[in-house]
Amino acid sequence: MSRTIFVTTALPYANGSFHIGHIMEYIQADIWVRSMRMAGHTVHFVGADDAHGAPIMLKAEAENISPQALVQRYASERPKYLNGFHIQFDHWHSTDSPENFELSQDIYRKLKAAGFIDTRQVEQFYDPVKGMFLPDRYIKGECPNCHAKDQYGDSCEVCSAVYSPTDLIEPYSTLTHARPVLRSSEHFFFKLSDPRCVKFLQEWTHGSQGNGAKRLQPEVLAKTSEWLGASEGDEASLADWDISRDEPYFGIPIPDAPRKYFYVWLDAPVGYLASLKAYCKIRGLDFDALVSPDSDTEQVHFIGKDIVYFHALFWPATLEFSGRKTPDMLHVHGFITVSGEKMSKSRGTGISPLRYLEIGMNAEWLRYYIAAKLNAHVEDLDFNPEDFVARVNSDLIGKYVNIASRAATFITRHFDGVLAYSGETQTLTDELTQAAEEVRNDFEAREYGRAIRRAMAVADRINQAFDAAQPWVLAKGIGEADAERKAQLQDICSRALAGFKALSVMLTPVLPALTERVARELFGQDRPFLWSDAAVLPGRIAAFKHLMQRVEPKQLDELFEPPEAAVVLPGGEAIADTIDIKDFARLDLRIARIVECSEVEGSDKLLRLSLDAGEGRLRQVFSGIKSAYRPDDLTGKLTVLVANLAPRKMRFGVSEGMVLAASHNDASVDAGIYILEPTSGAQPGMRIS
Ligand code: MSP
Ligand code: ZN
Repeated sequence: MSRTIFVTTALPYANGSFHIGHIMEYIQADIWVRSMRMAGHTVHFVGADDAHGAPIMLKAEAENISPQALVQRYASERPKYLNGFHIQFDHWHSTDSPENFELSQDIYRKLKAAGFIDTRQVEQFYDPVKGMFLPDRYIKGECPNCHAKDQYGDSCEVCSAVYSPTDLIEPYSTLTHARPVLRSSEHFFFKLSDPRCVKFLQEWTHGSQGNGAKRLQPEVLAKTSEWLGASEGDEASLADWDISRDEPYFGIPIPDAPRKYFYVWLDAPVGYLASLKAYCKIRGLDFDALVSPDSDTEQVHFIGKDIVYFHALFWPATLEFSGRKTPDMLHVHGFITVSGEKMSKSRGTGISPLRYLEIGMNAEWLRYYIAAKLNAHVEDLDFNPEDFVARVNSDLIGKYVNIASRAATFITRHFDGVLAYSGETQTLTDELTQAAEEVRNDFEAREYGRAIRRAMAVADRINQAFDAAQPWVLAKGIGEADAERKAQLQDICSRALAGFKALSVMLTPVLPALTERVARELFGQDRPFLWSDAAVLPGRIAAFKHLMQRVEPKQLDELFEPPEAAVVLPGGEAIADTIDIKDFARLDLRIARIVECSEVEGSDKLLRLSLDAGEGRLRQVFSGIKSAYRPDDLTGKLTVLVANLAPRKMRFGVSEGMVLAASHNDASVDAGIYILEPTSGAQPGMRIS
């Protein structure tokens, strides 16, 4: 039976470029979508930018542009990534769109009418200089538990304690360094504690889809059960959800509530519907029919493990109590790490998807590699360079791609491209049908690694049969008279190519571009493969064209190397690209006094500096200058601090800025390190411009 499925991936925040984690999620979803379409199902696959929220507003402000312009800048580079990795969304939208305003406000009105909205006075930190309420991540202070300095408003990076910002000792706003004051304001709440809500969520989280598949993976269900109070008679412990934010905020206004906006996580998932709605309009589809509560369109969300709470509790409850259709399934994946390391957004770590493409690496290598390592569990996945090279070269190319080149050569040379099978072919057909069916099921169950292992086992069998028959021996000095030998040779190669065709079908969700060429160029078919093509034995082939390059290990070195500087002057570094005064103004350089300086146990490069930059508190900065200075040399001196550099967590603690020092740019040239010192009269806190 043909199904209609509405598929989304999480909507990426629109204040940054895609990273490898996004691309992994999209590849996972794209493979699933392609496999379902190959089975004849109708799939609407949409994405959008998650445009709203305080971080985007503040980042735009810092750059002196409108939040819309900031969002547009990232939106305009999305296609480069998506097309580059063959990720085929039907539509890409934005949560800052008329559709989303309308849907979010409508949903809110319905929730309100059904008695699910409450208002309450909430006391929160307010930055009197900036004139806004501060989200937790913009408040820092001393940890109430371990007294580590400069910890975020919600949790301590040193001792992992979780607390509320009002518990911080000596809190300050990271935006202005002002001391925040407590201010009360009216907030709107979604009453998740309502017994109807808990009851609904208990059912929904345990539920199954129409086809019997569980709505949530077991480990996800375990989490939601914990949140919902799993055992019978347990008091459900869901707290009401604060869905409003005060002006200034980049978001959607709450109806009949002046100066109040929806918290970004209220309107973000509604963006799924907004994107579908915009897509339906373009395609002339009936949006309301697709998402009505009694619609048999399945709604499937691919998301990462960090946003389960929003998707397994808030989102279904929001939909249910506004009288809408609830999601049928969540597909939650783990995180991608690179060589065992967590991805960090700071430069130099992770893999840049754009660089991957720019240095000419094949997008389908990555798709194959990710597929081979994914399963249906919420497990992290590691990108390991050696493993990548091995899987692409030995499996993808060595086992799969090579079958075609080996068998096709004989068919073209001796049989003018015509395939023929001697003896019965039912066994072969049955084998290929069954393998393709199993692989298809694996894809549907998101067991991609298992699908790939099955396909590779088929490839092994094909290669073994081919090798055992030694076609190159049969082909040696073969003449017109050797009819039986010729038939044998033709049969062996035909069976190998039939196997290759079936394998190409099985790998089509993962390798859409390569297999489209196989379908068109080798098998002369005018459309991409469908699942039903696997068992149709091919009758002829065109001359074989080279299909895929092997990956060179040096490409991986290039992938991880930072791009080289353009020209290096003799003895020095090329002067960097020209910037304008605005670029320079983004640097906040301050005079700072080195109040204390000490060695760092366990480090032969670093010194720990305590700096007074006139902020009424001391900053800790680690600096790689131990080879040049003893702590005593520096204590009491003035120097220059990059005061608005994002804090960096190091093995020894958090470093909050950087002191400026001169050195030779080639670290192997030992020309010394010299920290900057102002001429006399400068005072801590003075700005350098
Ligand atoms: N804007 C929210 C989602 C709103 S959905 C209505 C958000 N954005 S995000 O850009 O931070 O993350 C988008 C998706 O990328 C999430 O599903 C997240 O789990 C996923 N990933 C972020 N880092 C990842 C990895 N390192 N690996 C795999 N996926 C990761 O959250
Ligand atoms: Zn602490």
